[in-house]
Amino acid sequence: MTAAPRKTSTGKTAAKKKTAGKASAKKTTVKKTTARKVTAKQAAVKKAVTKKAASRKAATRKTAAKKAAAKKARVKKTVAKKVVPVKAAAEKAPARKAPPAKTGWNPNIVVFACNWCSYAGADTAGVSRIQHEPHFRTIRVMCSGRIHPGFVLRSFEKGADGVMVSGCHIGDCHYVSGNERQLELFEITKKLIHLLGLEPERVRLEWISAAEGPRWAAIINEFTDQVRRLGPSPLKGERKAG
Ligand code: FES
Repeated sequence: MTAAPRKTSTGKTAAKKKTAGKASAKKTTVKKTTARKVTAKQAAVKKAVTKKAASRKAATRKTAAKKAAAKKARVKKTVAKKVVPVKAAAEKAPARKAPPAKTGWNPNIVVFACNWCSYAGADTAGVSRIQHEPHFRTIRVMCSGRIHPGFVLRSFEKGADGVMVSGCHIGDCHYVSGNERQLELFEITKKLIHLLGLEPERVRLEWISAAEGPRWAAIINEFTDQVRRLGPSPLKGERKAG
């Protein structure tokens, strides 16, 4: 008969340690699995949020592009309406040799011209020695978008009989959309002119490029004749009376 192994206190401790080790290893494995699960869940949530944000951004971009295209189309339509009759006048420009018959009165016209296109167009007309009416003063501004309706009103207050605002063609503005802004401002200018009791023909908005010297001359001639037919500005009398 063999004797049973004696249980020593050292053996008991070793068994206990082994069990504790196993439990801690199990705990660590569970912890790791849970952490992995949580991370995967978080990643999925993050992915979903990013996807949603991206789709929202794309939708916003699409709407903005749609709006911009609609605005461009609207502007193009307005410009096309204005440019067609002036085109015919521009072709006639070089043929004008002598000024129209003297009426005894010449208007004072103020022309606001943007530095990059219209002012350069006036320069082209001068360099090409194209003759045109001289009864205007040019005020150079950096962009037609800078010409506030107040500038036009101030010109009339100071004795102008007609005011023309000019800039680069739509799409050619050197500050991207200054001329589109002027289109909006000019609508306000026209309303103010109407409120003051002035004829709408006393103000004009034109797009003239640096190469369009003949067009500049044609428009100046046409506008001068138009204001001459209207006669002196009624605000001039008001000023004297005041
Ligand atoms: S720069 Fe010419 S209209 Fe803006």
